[in-house]
Amino acid sequence: MRVKTNSTMRLFSPAKVNLLLAVTGKRDDGFHDLVSLVTPLEFGDFIEVAVSGDAGSIQFTCSESSVPLGADNLVVQAVEAFRRGTGWDLGLNIHLEKHIPMEAGLGGGSSNAATTLLALNELAEKPLEMEALSELAATLGSDCPLFLHRAPLIMRGRGEQIEHLPAEVSGSLEGQAIAVFKPSIGISTPWAYGVLAGHPSYYADSVAVENRLESWRKGELSLKDLLHNSFERPVFEKFVAFPTLFDRIRSELGLHLLMSGSGASCFCLLPDMAMQEPLEVIVKDAFSDSVFFKVCRLGANV
Ligand code: C5P
Repeated sequence: MRVKTNSTMRLFSPAKVNLLLAVTGKRDDGFHDLVSLVTPLEFGDFIEVAVSGDAGSIQFTCSESSVPLGADNLVVQAVEAFRRGTGWDLGLNIHLEKHIPMEAGLGGGSSNAATTLLALNELAEKPLEMEALSELAATLGSDCPLFLHRAPLIMRGRGEQIEHLPAEVSGSLEGQAIAVFKPSIGISTPWAYGVLAGHPSYYADSVAVENRLESWRKGELSLKDLLHNSFERPVFEKFVAFPTLFDRIRSELGLHLLMSGSGASCFCLLPDMAMQEPLEVIVKDAFSDSVFFKVCRLGANV
């Protein structure tokens, strides 16, 4: 959804889930190589950007009081990167309407940064082509470039190499209902990568992963059989409530589920909306009533 009135824009900033997240090894630059099938959700934040105030100024507010508003916020970093990259420095008033839980593996911060870049590029009348925007986004975080595109896609490298899917393949995902849930555990992404680096046998085999993706693309492997996340092993070894809960959901409800990113969010494919209620009961029983629980669809039709 996008509304542009003179020099004000309101943009949807989607959450994402990784349907496949295979970390295949450590690189010389300290990052990891990965292969991931990732999709935006029809659930996310909203960002309003208005041109106002003195040149070079930023007024940044957020509906959620725990969100840092200073230079460590990726929205502010996106503005600074865009100004450096283009020389465009009109004053800005930015409001973030926050719905995506933070440190959750749902890409909230990266989505906010990429969406801010898209808004600024539009307000500045498109000084940057997609390739240059993507390079700027990659300087802000490995997950940022994917949010410049509002469709399911495949990420490789450290996350910056994007492969678009043919319409019939991405269309097969769009509209799929899922339930996303997250207990109030924060999992640090560098910690999760660090555990993998300490156990090289936990890395996925890149050839096997590419073969599975290819089979899924050809329709020979179903989505439920493609689901895989290399971070489940290290995270589940530390937080044992997850595997216990996953086993219970699988055996009692027969549903397919996966952790997203480095956690702690998980999602469950919902073949039938009637499963939502019993699922929510089990998830709240395992964690608490305060667990984040949201039913939404894959895709970007907001
Ligand atoms: O790029 P981003 O800021 O999201 O990365 C956070 C941290 O996660 C990095 O400092 C690195 O430790 C780890 N990381 C990695 N390989 C990736 C992405 C992130 O090792 N592909």
